Amino acid sequence: MRTLVRDLLKATSPSDTVQAAGWVRTRRDSKAFSFLEINDGSCLGSLQIIADAGIPGSEDLAKMSTGASISVEGKLVPSQGGGQAFEVQATSIRLLGAAPDDFPLQKKGHSPEFLRSIAHLRPRTNLYGAMFRVRSRMSQAVHRFFAERSFYYVHTPIITSSDAEGAGEMFRVTTLDPSQAGAKSYADDFFNKAAHLTVSGQLEGETFACALGNIYTFGPTFRAENSNTSRHAAEFWMIEPEMAFCDLQGDMDLAEEMVKYLVKEALEHQDGDLSIFEKFVDKTLRERLEFVVSNPFERVSYTEAVEILLKSGKTFEYPVEYGLNLQSEHERWLTEEYFKKPTTVFNYPKEIKPFYMRLNDDDKTVTAMDLLVPGIGEIVGGSQREERLDVLLANMDRHGLSREDYSWYIDTRKYGSVPHAGFGMGFERMLMFVTGMTNIRDVIPFARTPGHCEF
Ligand code: 4AD
Ligand code: MG
Repeated sequence: MRTLVRDLLKATSPSDTVQAAGWVRTRRDSKAFSFLEINDGSCLGSLQIIADAGIPGSEDLAKMSTGASISVEGKLVPSQGGGQAFEVQATSIRLLGAAPDDFPLQKKGHSPEFLRSIAHLRPRTNLYGAMFRVRSRMSQAVHRFFAERSFYYVHTPIITSSDAEGAGEMFRVTTLDPSQAGAKSYADDFFNKAAHLTVSGQLEGETFACALGNIYTFGPTFRAENSNTSRHAAEFWMIEPEMAFCDLQGDMDLAEEMVKYLVKEALEHQDGDLSIFEKFVDKTLRERLEFVVSNPFERVSYTEAVEILLKSGKTFEYPVEYGLNLQSEHERWLTEEYFKKPTTVFNYPKEIKPFYMRLNDDDKTVTAMDLLVPGIGEIVGGSQREERLDVLLANMDRHGLSREDYSWYIDTRKYGSVPHAGFGMGFERMLMFVTGMTNIRDVIPFARTPGHCEF
């Protein structure tokens, strides 16, 4: 049985027989022996192997070039060189798969753009290997966070006929032949109605919160936003908790707690991987993350935020005015320049937010909240939900939503309605925050953005 390189690198005593396997990072030859470094993806570090000339398999050594896969048997012995405690003195070595000279990852320092074009190979680089190990660890931590708080995990549908956000950014799901689609109506389509990929599991999630109490969803989410920014993807993962018997305060508390929990997770458990982001992406990463874990976040109402922005004396590209949405440049200025910490903005004007948010007593604002972080802007958006049937119906009418189509949603207010609240965290944005990566395309295994659906 092979031992993972990460475990071999953590070994505290020598061993007479070990087996390891991985991809060759470097090889140096001398007359009497070859010296190889292999990485098996289990951690950032590589294992050093000394292969004496003449051991079984050594006839293939010349083919064990960068990118080739090999397996090795030998002894784990204290290392002569610095940097690692142990290395493998091979007793036999085997070439599994050669990598010819055109292997694209020969040299260090490829650009992110080039690496995106070989997204199938980029996880073999140090930086992206670390990225996707962190992504895995963070996903597992999301589930643990909720499990520790007795939330139930609900699988909301990926194909749906509801439009939670009402923003018209949906991918249609159809079996109609586009060349004949004009002649047909949605009634002839697979579901006998218009269907699309989900933009949010919230509405379905709410019905489960109104039965199981505290729930969350964590799944793929799709938005056909034609905005080619570094923070938007057409396919991304969203985490959406929903809590019955909860108000906006409780909602903001949970969002902050979750951001801190995930940052702490990365600091405590992906230490080795974070070091590479610190080295190549953001020198202040660890310092920044430690600050986030140990300091309270800021909270400010939308109205106050607008006043602060108006008084800033800064010229923004987009206008600042009560009633307009905050743009990412405004969000970033607030968190980076003004508060210098993650900031939750709450109580937005009702006109710029979706129908399901709870109307405040001022009749002007709704209990919306956005959690903004330095470097990115919004990573969480949520609200307390409108639980009063009459107000919800009025909101739906105002947003032009059909009562018939959403009758199932309305039922939750008709039968045993409760105050409830929830939010959506963009998983990729959270990963960008934790790693310092500045482009969403570099935190998703295979990014889908306008004009790009390779792999
Ligand atoms: O603010 P949003 O649109 O909120 C909702 O969808 C609510 N239904 C959530 C809820 O209350 N249950 O999206 C939530 C988060 C954003 O804050 C952002 O982090 C992320 O999802 N997000 C995207 N991430 C990547 N690419 C996109 N195109 C994104 N759109 C939203
Ligand atoms: Mg939002």
